[in-house]
Amino acid sequence: MIIDLKQPIFSKIGEVADNLGLECYVVGGYVRDLLLKRPSKDIDVVVVGSGIMMAEEFAKSIGKGAHLSVFKTYGTAQVKFRDSEVEFVGARKESYQKESRNPIVENGTLEDDQLRRDFTINAMAICLNKARFGELVDPFGGVRHLELKMIKTPCNSDVTFSDDPLRMMRAIRFATQLGFFLEESTFEAIYANRERIKIITKERIIVELNKIMESERPSVGFVLLDKSGLLPLILPELERLKGIEKRHGKGHKDNFLHTLKVLDNVAEKSDDLWLRWAALLHDIGKPATKQWDEQAGWTFKNHNFIGYKMIPSIFRNMKLPLGEPLKFVQKMVLLHMRPIVLSEEEITDSAVRRLLFDAGDDIDSLMILCEADITSGNQEKVDMFLANFQKVRQKLDEVEQKDRIRNFQPPIKGEEIMRLFDLPPGRVVGELKMQLKDAILDGVIPNEYESAFQLLLKLAKEQGLAPKC
Ligand code: CTP
Repeated sequence: MIIDLKQPIFSKIGEVADNLGLECYVVGGYVRDLLLKRPSKDIDVVVVGSGIMMAEEFAKSIGKGAHLSVFKTYGTAQVKFRDSEVEFVGARKESYQKESRNPIVENGTLEDDQLRRDFTINAMAICLNKARFGELVDPFGGVRHLELKMIKTPCNSDVTFSDDPLRMMRAIRFATQLGFFLEESTFEAIYANRERIKIITKERIIVELNKIMESERPSVGFVLLDKSGLLPLILPELERLKGIEKRHGKGHKDNFLHTLKVLDNVAEKSDDLWLRWAALLHDIGKPATKQWDEQAGWTFKNHNFIGYKMIPSIFRNMKLPLGEPLKFVQKMVLLHMRPIVLSEEEITDSAVRRLLFDAGDDIDSLMILCEADITSGNQEKVDMFLANFQKVRQKLDEVEQKDRIRNFQPPIKGEEIMRLFDLPPGRVVGELKMQLKDAILDGVIPNEYESAFQLLLKLAKEQGLAPKC
């Protein structure tokens, strides 16, 4: 098969290789994405010979704009110019040691190089030399497997995964991203080698997990992680959500399946990775709070608060970022039931104001999460909840327009209270501020300076304080 390589860069690379008398191919993810008509970014080039020498010559041929970086230890080199990034590597044979991901590398043929790659769909090469320009070299049926939507290793799957256990995560990530399935023996080998994931750093695992999270239907990846036995090894807290317990014929939801549904629901509405993480973790406190009550049945009291408390250690263990993303996910998990609880009662202005005050700028994300959390096998029930939820949204809009509570700034600041009554910072000032805030949120006074000032004078007088200026 001849592939139409449109970018002029490829013939340029081929020319340089011809001058050096070397065989040279574009390989891996670039070829896969080209055939799938997906946007492809970085270009990987395999040279049968020295990748570094080839990169040096290629950079020279471009001249000024090219930036060359050589990584001697890995035998690779990168050339950056304009918005292209080309990685050159010599074709190699690799074998791995048991306790490490670091391979023993020897020079090899193109086929040796293709055989050591992770999946058949990632092991195709296109020749760049002039005489065979565009010729696809596909010894393991990559094109066929793209058509079948199948992820399969080019050689014995046990060898592929045992050599580099990160590939087990990659298999599941590609299946999720591309909507492919895992060929049977490939899947079985993941199960058999699952414990080897322990030699992979958390940082590398999270890169793959985040790509699963960013896919159109992230649940696909989590179901595969579960079935392959990897889930308890990488995110045991999620594994604990699995299962249904019954007493006197009363069961609760399978919180794992519910969580995956919520995650997909959120993914339909938002690309925000951290909101998706919040969806994944929103019920993480349920196993710890589960109780049987003779009257109420199964309860998960305060699971949002317990979940909120669990999240920092989950983030630390997974090497997820501890700054703003952590705070955001915690906030979402803590508040995730507030809007729905509102929809079950008469929706008062003051409850909506308090919700706006607590959620601040994250109110829209919270509403997406909370709406996504409405899942049930009973469609009538779902429709009823969704209709009630619409009322909360409407009320939010009304209150928002009227009172501007989102990013609430008290109309009178603490410093002004201290100046006015000649008070030092402390409890009295804090209490006055709090009473003003509550009065605004409860709708006792409007959110404006003059009303707040009058109320402040009244509250201060009750405490025996008089203005000094
Ligand atoms: N590869 C591999 N084993 C790995 C990582 C990569 O065999 N653990 C090979 C595959 O042939 C892959 C190529 O190296 O196609 C490039 O890897 P990388 O850039 O990480 O991934 P891509 O396949 O390009 O996919 P993506 O950009 O979506 O990560």
